[in-house]
Amino acid sequence: MSIDTATGKEAPADISSERVKDIFSSIAKKYERFNAVSSFGAYKAWLAGMMRQAPIGADADVLDIAGGTGDVTFTVARAKHPRHIQCTDLVDEMLDVARAHYADGAAEGVLVDFEVVDAQHIPYADASYDAITMAYGIRNMPERDQALSEMFRVLKPGGALVCLEFSTPPNRVWRALYSFYLKHLIPFWGGLITGDREGFVYLSRSIKAFPDQRGLATMMEKAGFTDVTWKNYTGGIAAVHVAIKPH
Ligand SMILES: C[S@@+](CC[C@H](N)C(=O)[O-])C[C@H]1O[C@@H](n2cnc3c(N)ncnc32)[C@H](O)[C@@H]1O
Repeated sequence: MSIDTATGKEAPADISSERVKDIFSSIAKKYERFNAVSSFGAYKAWLAGMMRQAPIGADADVLDIAGGTGDVTFTVARAKHPRHIQCTDLVDEMLDVARAHYADGAAEGVLVDFEVVDAQHIPYADASYDAITMAYGIRNMPERDQALSEMFRVLKPGGALVCLEFSTPPNRVWRALYSFYLKHLIPFWGGLITGDREGFVYLSRSIKAFPDQRGLATMMEKAGFTDVTWKNYTGGIAAVHVAIKPH
C-alpha cells in the first residue's frame, strides 16, 4: 500500500515522491539550517544518542539511507570508523552537499561512496551490508513497508537497522504542548529563518501523520526484523529504533 506522507492516507506513491523531490532539491543548500530548526535545535544530541545505540564495528560496511547532506554518514565515520559507508539519497542535490563536505575531509579518512538510491527499490544485492542507518527518512516514503523490506533484504543476517525519526511523546501534557508548537509555531518561525514555510508545513503534517514508537516497531517486525527496541529523546519527540535481521 502507498500513502500520502503528509496525511497518512492511502494515495498514489508519486504524489509524495514528487513533493519530497521538490522540497529537498530546492532546500539542499540551506538544508543544514533547516535541519537545525526542524529538529528544534536538538539534532546533535539525538544524533549522539543514535551513535550510542548503533551496533557498528570497525570492519562494518554501512549503508546510510536517505543520507541527505551526509550528517549521519559523517557522524558514523567519526564515531565508529567503519571500513566503508555507502551514502545514498533520492535527491542528487542533497548528495552534492555531502560530496562537498567529504572533499573537505568530513569523513576523517573513512571511505565513503555516494549514490542516488530510492530506498523503496534498493539496487544492491541481498545480504550486502552489516548495518543500515536512516535519519528522518522513512517518514518521507510513501511505500514504507516496501522500503523496510528492501532494507531487510540488503542487510546481512545479524545486521542492524538503526533509525532516527520524529515520534510521539507518551506524556499527554508534553504531547499537547508539542502538538501546538508543531502546528502553529514551526511553520511560522521555520519559514522566517529559512524562507521556506511550505517545507515546514509539510514537516508538521508528516510528523503528525507518522506512526508512534510502537507503530513503527510493528512495521519493522512485519518486514522481518526481530529484537526491535527504541529509546526516546526529548520526551519522545524523537526516537531511535534498533531492529535486527535474525540469523
Ligand atoms: C530530512 S532529510 C534527512 C537527511 C539526513 N539523513 C539527515 O539526518 O540530515 C530527508 C531525506 O530523505 C530523502 N528521501 C526522501 N524519500 C526518499 C526515498 N524514497 N529514498 C531515499 N531517500 C529519500 C530526501 O531526499 C532527504 O534528503
